[in-house]
Order: sequence, then C-alpha cells, then structure tokens
Amino acid sequence: MDVSSYKPKGRIEHKHLLNLLDYSPADIYEILHLSESLKTAFHKGKKHEFLKGKTLAMIFSKSSTRTRVSFEMGMHQLGGHSLFLSSNDIQLGRGETIHDTACVLSHYGIDGIMIRTFKQSDVEDLARYGTFSVINGLTDDFHPCQALADIFTVYEKYGKLNGIKLAYFGDGNNMAHSLMLAGAKTGMEVCICSPEGFQPNPDITAAAQKFGKVTVTDSVEEAATGADVLYTDVFFSMGQAKDPKKEKALMPYQVNVDVMAMAKKDAVFMHCLPAHRGEEVTADVIDSERSVIFQEAENRLHVQKAIMCLLMGKR
Ligand code: CP
Ligand code: NVA
Repeated sequence: MDVSSYKPKGRIEHKHLLNLLDYSPADIYEILHLSESLKTAFHKGKKHEFLKGKTLAMIFSKSSTRTRVSFEMGMHQLGGHSLFLSSNDIQLGRGETIHDTACVLSHYGIDGIMIRTFKQSDVEDLARYGTFSVINGLTDDFHPCQALADIFTVYEKYGKLNGIKLAYFGDGNNMAHSLMLAGAKTGMEVCICSPEGFQPNPDITAAAQKFGKVTVTDSVEEAATGADVLYTDVFFSMGQAKDPKKEKALMPYQVNVDVMAMAKKDAVFMHCLPAHRGEEVTADVIDSERSVIFQEAENRLHVQKAIMCLLMGKR
C-alpha cells in the first residue's frame, strides 16, 4: 500500500504523538491525507475550524521559530486557542515536577500540550500523568512532527513514498531517528550516513529496521547513489556544546554539489532548518532549485494541524 491507495477513515486510535514507534503505516497515511485536504482548504481560503473551543498549551524548554509559529497559527486557523509557556517563565523551569505540572494543567481543561524539551521521558511522563493529548515538538531523541512534514513533502514531490530512497547525512540525531521511523513505516528506503561515533542510537535503528529498509553507513557514495532525497541537519543540536572534534568528523558528510551529483538527476535537497551554510550544507545546494526547504517548513503547519485534529478532535 502507499499513501494514494490508502482509503482514509478520518480517525486514528491514538491520544498522543510521542515518538512514532507505536504508529502504524495506516496512522501515518491518515495524517498525510488530512494534511493534504487541510493544505488545500488553507490555500483556497476555506474555513476549517475543526478545533473550535479547544486549547493547546505549548511548553518550550528550547528555542523555536517554525514549531512555535506553525502550532500557534495552526490552532488559530482551526478555531482553537493556544498558550505559549516558556519553561523559563513557568514553575517547571524552577524545579516543579512534570507530574505536578501535568495534574494542574489537566484541572484547567487543557485539551493538548505540545512540548519541546530535552528528555524524551519528560514527554512520556506528561502523557502518563495528564488528561490531555501530548505532542512531541522535539526532544534530544525524536522530532516526529518534522519527520511527518518531511515525508508529506516527499509525497507531494514524487506522488508516492514506497521505494523512494532518502539519504540522511551527518549527525545521527533526533532528526535521523524520526526519519528512520517515518520512512521505514511508509515503504521508503532510509540510509543514514554518519561517521563512527556519531551514528544513530542502535536501539532506535534496530526498532526502525523491524518496519522497513533502514541502513547505516559511513560511505557518502553508498548513501547518495540512487537517492531521491538528500537530507541533512546541524552538526550541533540544541543543548549540545560546540566540539571541534565533532565538527572535523562531520565535515566530510557535508551536502555539497559533489554529493548532489552522486544522487538521482532530479533528487531534492531537504533540511529541517535552521541551517548553517558552509557547515552541514553549502549555499549552492540549499539555495538552489533542488532545495525544497521552504515547502518543508510550510508543511509543518498543515501536517501539525492534521495531527491536532486527529488527536484532539472528536474521536
Ligand atoms: N525545524 C524546526 O523544528 O524548527 P524550529 O526549531 O524553528 O522550531
Ligand atoms: N537536530 C536539531 C533539529 C532542530 C529542528 C536540534 O535538535 O537542534
């Protein structure tokens, strides 16, 4: 099955989006179908207030441009309300527990929480103790909303996901983990290309390999050959200190015109953003016609609106 042959039911049996591990291909296809119709409604200026009266709280312990604005705009367009809660300003930042925060916010009638933080276990605890839906807006281990927006972008470009090869270059980080899971579950071939010491978490890799074709290599040529999508992310994720040894190890994995030339002729370049030109990617690649970075960034809005409708709407 692929996205286009899947018949949507308009619902998924989940309350939360924590890491994609427990999402089936059908769950992902539901999200992609709804994203497509919400994107059309948005561009036609058609009202789609499916979350009228619902409230999303957004807890941020790390910086954000895309995640913050796309969730806030998304909730507004769906007729709901959002609350921005910087962890510096709420008591969580002064040591109040996730448990107590979850219980308190549940009593105020919050319907959903989008949380961006460090530890994956904090996101899972929030879901365990609260009565609301929890959406992972990035942790040190996963960035599921970004990966879903990315595969939606791939689907828009190629009209399918099955058999599409995505090669990811660089740090085996939260993006690498979520792309492996989202790609493997939708029939894509995902190849993570990283040097020894910076490869993805072996447990997450093994989990993704159970669902589909996922490989890890340190050979740029092996990864880029036959690729339809070349993807990279920053050398240093939020919360990581700059380390010259890591920079030296990752520099040979930079996506530049030579790497693009090894891929398929119409291959596209993707990046979750923010990007550092001259580090993980060169300006002549990221600013070229083959780059779909702004389509990817826009798709955060549509895909997250679909996620919120499916998790927080009438079920
Ligand atoms: N890609 C992404 O999550 O961007 P922000 O850090 O700006 O939210
Ligand atoms: N790996 C990056 C992704 C940013 C969207 C980080 O965690 O900082």
